[in-house]
Amino acid sequence: MRAITLPSFGGPEVLTWTDVPDPTPGPGEVLIGVAASAVNRADVLQRQGNYAPPPGASPYLGLECSGRIAEIGPEVSGWQAGDDVCALLAGGGYAERVAVPAGQLLPVPTGVDLVTAAALPEVTCTVWSNVFMLAGLAAGDVFLVHGGSSGIGTMAIQLAARAGARVFCTAGTPVKRSRCRELGADVAIDYHEEDFVKRVRDDTDGHGADVVLDNMGAAYLERNVEVLATGGRLVVIGMQGGTTAELNIGTLLRKRASVSATALRSRPADGPGGKADIVAAVREHVWPAIEAGQVRPVVDQVLPMAEAAQAHRLLEASGHVGKILLVT
Ligand SMILES: NC(=O)c1ccc[n+]([C@@H]2O[C@H](COP(=O)([O-])OP(=O)(O)OC[C@H]3O[C@@H](n4cnc5c(N)ncnc54)[C@H](OP(=O)(O)O)[C@@H]3O)[C@@H](O)[C@H]2O)c1
Repeated sequence: MRAITLPSFGGPEVLTWTDVPDPTPGPGEVLIGVAASAVNRADVLQRQGNYAPPPGASPYLGLECSGRIAEIGPEVSGWQAGDDVCALLAGGGYAERVAVPAGQLLPVPTGVDLVTAAALPEVTCTVWSNVFMLAGLAAGDVFLVHGGSSGIGTMAIQLAARAGARVFCTAGTPVKRSRCRELGADVAIDYHEEDFVKRVRDDTDGHGADVVLDNMGAAYLERNVEVLATGGRLVVIGMQGGTTAELNIGTLLRKRASVSATALRSRPADGPGGKADIVAAVREHVWPAIEAGQVRPVVDQVLPMAEAAQAHRLLEASGHVGKILLVT
């Protein structure tokens, strides 16, 4: 098969579409003939040499894919060769074939085409596990998501709005803020011009945010804690603004608030806190909303897999809204 390989770490130009050995499905795994994969920030870090794949994962980039099951490994039930699926991966999506634990498979939702389904696994699993399973967002809560127009943000806005939360987001351009509002954000904040802490507090009569989903890490830690309501939950999933910052324990104590940080990729396939539990919950709670047309994948562009370098340039330029897909 062909896959995007990394002959060296560096800029997008190092991404090379080349012949590699086919993977074989081990016990509990299936082999997918990949139709599409999607670009994630983690792929950029891996390309730069700053994010090694977890032990046992494919060396190739790609944390999600859609495609057709080509082969079933030993000890797999419930799936058959020929099934159209999408999958959460620990790596290996930028390829013509990938082996994946069966617990990380999802059916292609009714009403979504096979290629577009590649936009779903990372954003649905990340948002559901953090905003709902961990932070327990509920109807009537105030929710703030940073990077509202990102792949993650576009799904977080839709799922939070559908859950009956009041949704605030940050986004850097007028076009992005308008798209966020179309997806269900009540308020889209221009973080270049406006202090999000003040805006959320002002618009909620001083209450603040019950749940914050953050992609900025260190750069926003202090203000994210400041914006939390009493009993609020801050979940950090990205480090675009750095990794190290001071945390004011006094503010947390006073608010009885919590700060968590999680990564999806390094979770085990099975067992407590594993990917399979999250995928099952997403299938139960998010898939029906997608099939009912209440929540939709947001795709910015679709490029050939061989043009992965250009897809990375687009992601890094950050003009996109939603996901950038790669098709084989
Ligand atoms: N922990 C996990 O398991 C996990 C899983 C998936 C993704 N993630 C993380 O989640 C984040 C979003 O991922 P993605 O793939 O959806 O990325 P993406 O589409 O590339 O989005 C990144 C976003 O960051 C926004 N941004 C940049 N500077 C900002 C600032 N100062 N304030 C607010 N927003 C800012 C950009 O929008 P503007 O143009 O508005 O600046 C852009 O929308 C990334 O940090 C990624 O690493 C984590």
